[in-house]
Formats: sequence, structure tokens, C-alpha cells
Amino acid sequence: MRSLVTGGAGFIGSHLCEELLSRGEEVIVLDNLSTGSIANVGHLKDKKGFTLVVDSVLNKPVLEELVQKADRIFHLAAAVGVKLIMERPVDTIETNVLGTEHVLSLANKYHKKVLVASTSEVYGKHRDHTLSEMNNMVLGPTKKRRWAYACTKALDEFLSFAYHEEKRLPVVVVRFFNTIGPRQTGQYGMVVPKFIKSALLNNPITVFGNGTQSRSFTYVKDAVRAVLMLMEKPEAEGDVFNIGDGREITILELAKRIKKMTNSTSEIVFVPYDDAYGKGFEDMERRAPDISKIRKFIGYEPSLNLDQVLEIITQHMKNG
Ligand SMILES: NC(=O)c1ccc[n+]([C@@H]2O[C@H](COP(=O)([O-])OP(=O)(O)OC[C@H]3O[C@@H](n4cnc5c(N)ncnc54)[C@H](O)[C@@H]3O)[C@@H](O)[C@H]2O)c1
Repeated sequence: MRSLVTGGAGFIGSHLCEELLSRGEEVIVLDNLSTGSIANVGHLKDKKGFTLVVDSVLNKPVLEELVQKADRIFHLAAAVGVKLIMERPVDTIETNVLGTEHVLSLANKYHKKVLVASTSEVYGKHRDHTLSEMNNMVLGPTKKRRWAYACTKALDEFLSFAYHEEKRLPVVVVRFFNTIGPRQTGQYGMVVPKFIKSALLNNPITVFGNGTQSRSFTYVKDAVRAVLMLMEKPEAEGDVFNIGDGREITILELAKRIKKMTNSTSEIVFVPYDDAYGKGFEDMERRAPDISKIRKFIGYEPSLNLDQVLEIITQHMKNG
């Protein structure tokens, strides 16, 4: 089996490649290294069956050649993270919309199964309950740039389902909820690597708002396991699945826990959202998945608790 992994030099993609290669499968990565890096796949590059192509999913002739070579496609390439979206909205929208359109149309042309990575961001501003796949999207106005990421991914989902229904393309959509693990960088605003890095350097840990907003975190190896199980289950085609962990923690509690775990002398400082992202920035107070669907479908359960995952990331950062 040969898989094309777009965005395979990124955080989740590199773990997916690692797992595929460990199963004796072949992997072709297509990545433009915008937020990913050669270092993420450095330990894989000499493995049998691994190929890295540094180019963009927006380069359709290159993508077409790779789609033809592959048996199936994991489409993870995207402009990711709120910070990036706030800073480079045109790139974000074009990459996420046009990139996915190219992948789906070529997968359809050559009859290849695809898994499309979406995000919990598509749910938008719910706060009173955990999020299940058929919940409404509650998004802010189009003048608020932050919602562009959610809209691009929602459009990717619509297009995936349209290809499935109209053209019978086998496609599975997954919505990742804050996924964490080794190799994730804090450079683009991801909270866990940012906090751990600050704590290890005894620099201030910066909490946006008052820190009462809560999140749940998924261990990347669990996310990869779920992706592969869903890809291998024909009944998952044409459907969408949350991949997450139902256990929640506030961002302030997360900062305190990381500070304690690393024996850090860091001060925890609060920065208003407006200062971090500009005036009128909206964030979700709460975002936690209902994972009953994926549990029922593939028997998915998170393998580790948050402290265990934080420990793994800390050790990795210390060694790196
Ligand atoms: N990490 C999370 O918590 C999370 C949450 C929700 C959704 N997701 C989704 O999962 C996928 C992987 O995210 P990640 O966390 O690994 O982020 P990442 O930034 O590490 O990975 C994205 C990869 O795509 C590559 N890329 C970007 N534009 C490209 C282009 N035009 N052509 C080719 N490659 C391109 C980047 O260089 C990077 O390697 C994304 O689709 C993202 O939207 C991630």
C-alpha cells in the first residue's frame, strides 16, 4: 500500500508517516514546508519506502503525478492555527479551499480514497455542551478574520460530501480537536508547546484573557491511530468524525500544571485578547468533543491522560 500524505512534514502528518512506515507501507509526502519542516521527517528520510516532495498542493501537475502513484490519500496540508490566519488571511483561504479542491478532483479522476483533515473550529462559538458531529456551526461575521479558517474547512467538508454523494468518491472527514505531542511547534500560536517552552526557559507563561476558557487535548498518536482505523473502515466513507478527548482543562489550570511539572519559576501573566490578536477578537469559552460516534464506530479511546502527554512533550523538548 502506498499513501500520499499532503502536509506530511507537519506535526500530525509526520506522526502519521512514522506509523505508516512502521507498518511496512510506502509513503509519499507532499509538503511546501511553510509550517512543516525537514527536521520533522529527518528520522524517516532514510527509511525504505519514504519519499519527500517539497512542493505545494496548489501545484496541480505535481499533485496529479503523485495522486496517480498513490493507492490512497491523507490530505492534511493546510494553513493551520489562529495566529497564521490572523496574519496571512489570503494564503490561508487559498491554500485551504483550492488545495482541497485540487486533491478531491484528482482523487475523483483517478478513483483514490481520501481522508480530509478538518477541525473543531468549524463548530464555532458553542459553550454549553460538548460538540457532536451534527451540531450547528455558530460562526461570527465575515469581517472577523478569525472565522475564515473555520469557513475554509467547512467548505472542504461540503466539497468532500458532495464528491461522495454525487461522484461516489470514497472520502472520510475527520475533525481534529487540539492535538498535541512531540514536534508540535509553538511558533504559530499552539498553546501547549508555547507554555512548555516558556516554562523550561523560566520565561513568563502568557495566558490570553482571564484563562477560564477551557479546552481538551488529544494525543497525536491517538489521533493517528483513529485516522488509520477510520480510513480502513468502508462504513466511514461519506461521514465525519470528531477525533478528540472529552476531558477538559482551563487554560489557566494548564499553565499552572505545566509550571509545576517543569519545576519552573515562570510567572503566569495575563494578556487581553485584543492585545494579542487585535481589537474585537473572539475566542471560544469552551471546546470539548463528544466522542461517542467514533467510540461506537471503531472503539476509540484515548490511551494516555493529559499529564502523561505533557510529560512526553517536555522530555522531547528537553532532548531537542
Ligand atoms: N494540530 C491540531 O490541533 C489540529 C486541529 C484541528 C485541525 N488540524 C488539521 O490537521 C492538519 C495537520 O495540522 P498540523 O497540526 O499537523 O499542522 P502543521 O502546520 O504542522 O501541518 C500542516 C502541514 O501542511 C503543510 N502545508 C501548508 N500549506 C501547504 C501547501 N500549499 N502545500 C503543501 N503543504 C502545505 C505545512 O508545511 C505543514 O507541514 C491540518 O489540515 C489542520 O487544519 C490540526
